[in-house]
Amino acid sequence: MEKIIIFDTTLRDGEQAPGASLTSEQKLEIAYQLEKLGVDVIEAGFPIASPDDFKAVNLISKKIKKSGVCALARCLAPDIAAAYKAVKPAKAGRVHLFLATSKIHLQYKFKKAENEILEIAKRSTRLARKHCKDIEFSPEDATRSERGFLYRIVETVINEGATTINIPDTVGYSYPQEVYSLITDIRNNVPNIEKAVIAIHCHNDLGMAVANSLSAVLAGARQVHCTINGLGERAGNASLEEIVMAIKTRRDVFGEFYTQINTRNLFQVSRLVSSLTGFVVAPNKAIVGRNAFRHESGIHQDAILKKRITYEIMNPDDVGFIESNIVLGKHSGRHALSKRLADLGFKFDAKKINEIFKQFKTLADKKKEVFDDDLVALAEEETRGKIKVYELVSVRVNTGTDIPPEAQVKIKHKNKILSANSSGDGPVDACFKAVDKITGIKSKLLDYRLGAVTSGKDALGEVSLKLQAKNKTVSGRSSSTDIIEASVRAYLDAVNKIAI
Ligand code: KIV
Ligand code: ZN
Repeated sequence: MEKIIIFDTTLRDGEQAPGASLTSEQKLEIAYQLEKLGVDVIEAGFPIASPDDFKAVNLISKKIKKSGVCALARCLAPDIAAAYKAVKPAKAGRVHLFLATSKIHLQYKFKKAENEILEIAKRSTRLARKHCKDIEFSPEDATRSERGFLYRIVETVINEGATTINIPDTVGYSYPQEVYSLITDIRNNVPNIEKAVIAIHCHNDLGMAVANSLSAVLAGARQVHCTINGLGERAGNASLEEIVMAIKTRRDVFGEFYTQINTRNLFQVSRLVSSLTGFVVAPNKAIVGRNAFRHESGIHQDAILKKRITYEIMNPDDVGFIESNIVLGKHSGRHALSKRLADLGFKFDAKKINEIFKQFKTLADKKKEVFDDDLVALAEEETRGKIKVYELVSVRVNTGTDIPPEAQVKIKHKNKILSANSSGDGPVDACFKAVDKITGIKSKLLDYRLGAVTSGKDALGEVSLKLQAKNKTVSGRSSSTDIIEASVRAYLDAVNKIAI
């Protein structure tokens, strides 16, 4: 059987999704989980882009031992130097060069002729190869590039020492048969192609990123670029969990291939990425959506009880999905909580368990039945709440149909309790304005969503929102049985990402 190399770009292309910004520590936390998941190569960032990006790639390179670590670079000497320097401590470091090759990009982005681009690709690969043995080259917008030129550039960079050739469908324009032909043509027309691994990198603008990636595998690609939850620029990248499970499930088609992904960790990693980026996973998302293994119709439920394969093509256990049920109540102890959290994939030290236990008791007093999804919300709150520039102390609102909404918010900042009052269009708006008065950060609320974590009138309300300030788009998320409190906590979660 042939191995398909899983190249995860959640921390690079995934983080390019507007509002998905992560701190170095959060990136490292995700990198540890990707390593545990069995990802072969982690693309950790674009070091020249910012000092924070450099720091994250460098930190991950120092800490990750089992997966390779890759850094992105344009075909420019300072980019290459930063990328190489950032991945130098890695056990298996890789530099990923990219340069657009389509006529559209050459004409409008670079205003350069093909020969000039060819020369830049050659020079840059040679330079990168001097420092690093493992070089990946991406002719950006490859699927819209003129074939003859694409073959020439691929042949040239392989001659200069590129070890992986990645074919990006940068704008998600292709469909599966086209990708199949493109990979086949590259294999037939680039004389030295056997010296490199062919990779595929698909975006999801037309919803075909996963299908296109799998088609490339069938045509000869042996590395797939993907992201957890399909996070990425615009409509996102090909989703790791979908690719891996398609290969694992459709043995009739992909029987000669395997990946080394520990699929039982998929749900947990998906939750972590969703929680840290603030990007909520749609309930109907394949593999990791909350409803991906739930059967609503009576006919389906009846058939499932008779034989699961009637309506299930995958075993939920294989992706780490645990059916939500009532597990704990106000009499449950710390040990039961810790055990259930571990079953759900969350491992916390004793100090954090104590913290979550306190919140669990408060919740159990308010809610008779505590579901797995409630526990996940509490655990995620703990995972997320790491940046504590501003911490909520209390919130009070006075509102009604016949009085203007007024809010008083108290926040801890540098060991001082700061307080502000404000009115607003509604109680949530009044609270946000009070927070703004305290922090002095002027932001624009781009998105605000409120949903219930479980069913029932006493369910936890979960708020996810996006803010824009100081040229940054950030997301925030929080949950509470009180939706005003959840809103203020989510707002502070986002504000803290701006404040650091
Ligand atoms: O989509 C793209 O072309 C990219 C390259 C940098 C590989 O992300
Ligand atoms: Zn991309």
